[in-house]
Amino acid sequence: MPPITRPRGTNDLLPAESGLRQWVIETHRRVAAAHGYQLIDTPVFEATEMYERGTGVGTDVVEKEMFSFTDRGGRALTLRPEGTPGVLRAVLAAHLEQAHRPVRVHYAGPMFRYARPQAGRYHEFWQLGIEAIGERSSALDAEVIEVAWRFYEALGVTGLSLQVNTLGDLDDRLRYRAALVEYYTPLQERLCEDCRRRLAVNPLRLLDCKRDSGLVSGAPQIGPSLGPESQAFFAEVTALLAAAGIPFQLNPRLVRGLDYYAHTTFELWHESLQGAQNALGGGGRYDGLAEVLGFPATPGCGYALGVERTLAVCREQGLGPAARREQVVVLGIAGTDTPAAAAVARRLRMAGITAALDASDRRLDRRLAAAARQGARAVVLVGEAEAAGGSATWKDLDSGRQETAPVDEVAGALRRLLAGG
Ligand code: HAM
Repeated sequence: MPPITRPRGTNDLLPAESGLRQWVIETHRRVAAAHGYQLIDTPVFEATEMYERGTGVGTDVVEKEMFSFTDRGGRALTLRPEGTPGVLRAVLAAHLEQAHRPVRVHYAGPMFRYARPQAGRYHEFWQLGIEAIGERSSALDAEVIEVAWRFYEALGVTGLSLQVNTLGDLDDRLRYRAALVEYYTPLQERLCEDCRRRLAVNPLRLLDCKRDSGLVSGAPQIGPSLGPESQAFFAEVTALLAAAGIPFQLNPRLVRGLDYYAHTTFELWHESLQGAQNALGGGGRYDGLAEVLGFPATPGCGYALGVERTLAVCREQGLGPAARREQVVVLGIAGTDTPAAAAVARRLRMAGITAALDASDRRLDRRLAAAARQGARAVVLVGEAEAAGGSATWKDLDSGRQETAPVDEVAGALRRLLAGG
């Protein structure tokens, strides 16, 4: 029988990588918390209708990439392809925005998109995100962008490029739509099949066509379609970014792949990520989304960052948590000493020490070598004599220093050693 294999487009998180990933997630939590964002967790599956209405039926995500199913009660459900609609639903259903505006939340979790798997693009991937809900102010757009920027700064990532754009309000977009239809209609023959269809449904999508045959560069830009209010709002956002010392590039083609954006949109690109997968993350303002989901009109803005792509950049730049070897391995000298060694390990853990028991029956020298290989800072040896006397022998694997003492004293000595004292 062939062994069971991992489903396409998924990844295993193996222990060797888990430290890096935990560090990335924890750094995001810390940076978001420092800006006043609190953790929110929402279901991994939601009503399919929420994404159809929110993310948008004309988007690739909804059209081609959703993992949808019918439950045993006949309800149409979808594994979340993104976090924003679910987070907004949860905040508004609990009326959090009535107590305090804006509601600032951050999240981390798996998302699911049935896109063709390739480097940086998976069926299951993680996003880190924030959403600021209930207030329409340029300061909030700038703040959201700044949190993303400070997060990558805290990781030590260099080589980022921040792309910003505005899609204006609904009237601006209707004007822009008309300008795009006017430009593209005589060129229909040269459009790909998808774009011919999109021209009728959502002409903005044509600007990020992956198979574009050189037509995008001649397409009208949104600038002339923007009303004075939208222009002023965007000017405030960019002035605030400049005041915060955050470098950015204006990118009038940045329409993003989801339907709900209005006003500010942005993406963070990284030079080491290739081609269409070069975005570490993106976001923007989505003032119309709440109404589309059936709630009272409520403004909001936020972002999501891809964890796998962020990890790839960290690996490439040699970034990670400061190496910390916190673990101690406890061994019984002979096989019969294992129960006594287990009792010592238990007492060390109660004293706050990370202690793994080696219960194998291999030769002692091999077990010591294995403890060093797995990154232990010290080993604790328990033999017949030690067990009888309530003591243990601990050995510093770096200096080779060795000492036999009562278990409580061993715990104290190990705590000092692990704390670097
Ligand atoms: P998005 O641009 O669709 O935005 O996704 C954000 C990030 O998630 C991408 O830049 C990428 O790093 C990562 N990502 C997306 N799809 C995949 C995939 N198949 N495999 C690996 N990584 C992927 C959103 O999802 C919006 N909810 C962002 C937002 C929040 N806008 C406002 N608030």
